[in-house]
Amino acid sequence: MLEFDAATTKLLDTAYQGSDFAKRRRASFDVVDPLPGDRILDLGCGPGLLTLELARAVGPKGLVFGLDPSPDMRATAAKRCEDEPVVQIIDGSAQDIPFEDESLDKAVAVQVFEYFDNLEQPLKELRRVLRPGGRVVISDMHFGTWVWHSADSDRMERMMKIWDLHLADREVPEKLPALLKDHGFQNACTIPLTLFDAVLRPDGMARMLMILMSGYAQKNGQLPDAEIAAWLSEQESLAAEGRFFMAITHFITYAERI
Ligand SMILES: C[S@@+](CC[C@H](N)C(=O)[O-])C[C@H]1O[C@@H](n2cnc3c(N)ncnc32)[C@H](O)[C@@H]1O
Repeated sequence: MLEFDAATTKLLDTAYQGSDFAKRRRASFDVVDPLPGDRILDLGCGPGLLTLELARAVGPKGLVFGLDPSPDMRATAAKRCEDEPVVQIIDGSAQDIPFEDESLDKAVAVQVFEYFDNLEQPLKELRRVLRPGGRVVISDMHFGTWVWHSADSDRMERMMKIWDLHLADREVPEKLPALLKDHGFQNACTIPLTLFDAVLRPDGMARMLMILMSGYAQKNGQLPDAEIAAWLSEQESLAAEGRFFMAITHFITYAERI
């Protein structure tokens, strides 16, 4: 599993401000539909980019809680939100959300559920802490939709398979509608958002993944260094030749607490 330590936090904090991740954050924000005075949980808030945007939208009468088990992520989120009195950054986990029953209007989790072995306990917790009529928004990639061009498709497949090990569940979006229904939510809807890079931009998702994936494969001793270097080098060459292509679909699922 990927460790959300200081190095990963720094990398994500920069990449998440890039245009690819800004798109999915904006789409998730719109589905949360924050209103003045709302009490909103940003579950797995990471570096707190969405937390801050939600805080501005709920205004002085609202409250936004950023919950994350990673001390490095919490430190970054707390610094980012330090001038927003309506934000509280809290240590905790989706398995045991430290809030009273029915105390929140909305809850959002962006790319967090894919790290859970068991999707059910977090859904039980979200239902418990949301008020009746409250909204849950769960926003995750589906790694079955991932397309990445390479002239060496076997090597690309090996790199992608190793990256599967960084998460617990690569198929969260397809499981959520039925799970939400089973856990006391109704009117579930899913919105697809394809993230696509044809250019290897410094602030893009593909660049971030190349750094994360090569580091992860090296650290876990999964592939020889020479093969990882060749994979990286091919992508740089494809980009230089205008033949770079990577796409993945992110799904935003939302539902109402019964
Ligand atoms: C890929 S990051 C996404 C961060 C943030 N939601 C965003 O989109 O900017 C995943 C986050 O989930 C957090 N996380 C991992 N396990 C968690 C758990 N059991 N409960 C809550 N958050 C968790 C990690 O610490 C990390 O900050």
